[in-house]
Amino acid sequence: MASNGDNTPPVAQEKVNTDIVSLTRFLTEEQTKHPEATGDFTLLCHALQFSFKSIAYYIRRATLINLTGLAGSSNTTGDDQKKLDVIGNDLFIAAMRGSGKCRILVSEEEEEAIVFDESPFARYAVVCDPIDGSSNLDAGVSVGTIFGIFKLPDELLGPNKKVEAKDILRPGTELVAAGFTMYGASAQLVITMRGGSVNGFTMDNSLGEFILTHPNMRLPAKRSIYSVNEGNSMYWDHWVNEYFKDLKFPATGKPYSARYIGSMVADAYRTLLYGGVFAYPADSKAPKGKLRILYECAPMAMVFENAGGQALNSKMERLLELVPEDIHDKSGVFLGSNDEVEKIKGFYKKYAK
Ligand code: AHG
Ligand code: MN
Ligand code: MN
Repeated sequence: MASNGDNTPPVAQEKVNTDIVSLTRFLTEEQTKHPEATGDFTLLCHALQFSFKSIAYYIRRATLINLTGLAGSSNTTGDDQKKLDVIGNDLFIAAMRGSGKCRILVSEEEEEAIVFDESPFARYAVVCDPIDGSSNLDAGVSVGTIFGIFKLPDELLGPNKKVEAKDILRPGTELVAAGFTMYGASAQLVITMRGGSVNGFTMDNSLGEFILTHPNMRLPAKRSIYSVNEGNSMYWDHWVNEYFKDLKFPATGKPYSARYIGSMVADAYRTLLYGGVFAYPADSKAPKGKLRILYECAPMAMVFENAGGQALNSKMERLLELVPEDIHDKSGVFLGSNDEVEKIKGFYKKYAK
């Protein structure tokens, strides 16, 4: 298009937003709302943010630099470890150690909790699944990192104090913050603090910053979408089969749509935005379920509840109230829109033995 003779440029001018809320700014603003804050939590979040950026970077380059495939080992729960599982885990541990604010870390990829005795006054405990959905990695399908943060009691602070795994066998109701980052078409970070709202950020690769794009996320009260691995239906309880059968063959109205990626982070992120239900029920093959309470179920449950949804186990108990028996303890999971989870409770009541 030629210039039109006056001073207007030959192409339409993009409207530039000069008042961007980055995650760094958001965290600073949150901190100022708490005059008693020491800044330690903010620094811990900066270290978390760096681990997400690094993991995102290596996932994007994986095929180019030979990081696809197996590492030749298996993790605590017997899953084969991918090379990126190991790298994601190492990046996460290094970021937490380097922050100086993390006293103890539980990772899906580590059998035992990692205790940072070099930071005796660090008051936070972090739980994480460094790469969730790793079976999808080599196909370039979205995966993610899930995290939760607990604050340790004052009596555990100091150089002569022993902090151990049992100190974080706590219910999710005690998490001070939780969230996840999904590495998809872009990296999406979702974070919530105890009793607070849920906020979503999108990585701007040029700026190298997570930008607030989804303030105060609220889960729609209902939506006809279900997300579950139906290949397990042979192992499901009767009531679970009755519920999903009803979604496909409703007495009235249209059947639901099925969407299942096989990465909890990606399935949960879509559910958070669109509504519906994501489930990984306990079954006869895995009576305690597949997903881990501390670093998969509890952080997701906090996000869903704070966004107005519900998060229950296979006995219709609140996921956030479960106390794990060990750091890798598992549970059945139902995460979803408020009305949909109410419907699930109805089926449980009617059909569960
Ligand atoms: P991870 O890759 O951390 O082991 O987790 C995989 C989990 C979760 O992301 C997903 O919802 C579920 O496993 C998928 O399991 P199926 O392959 O059995 O459907
Ligand atoms: Mn996982
Ligand atoms: Mn994992």
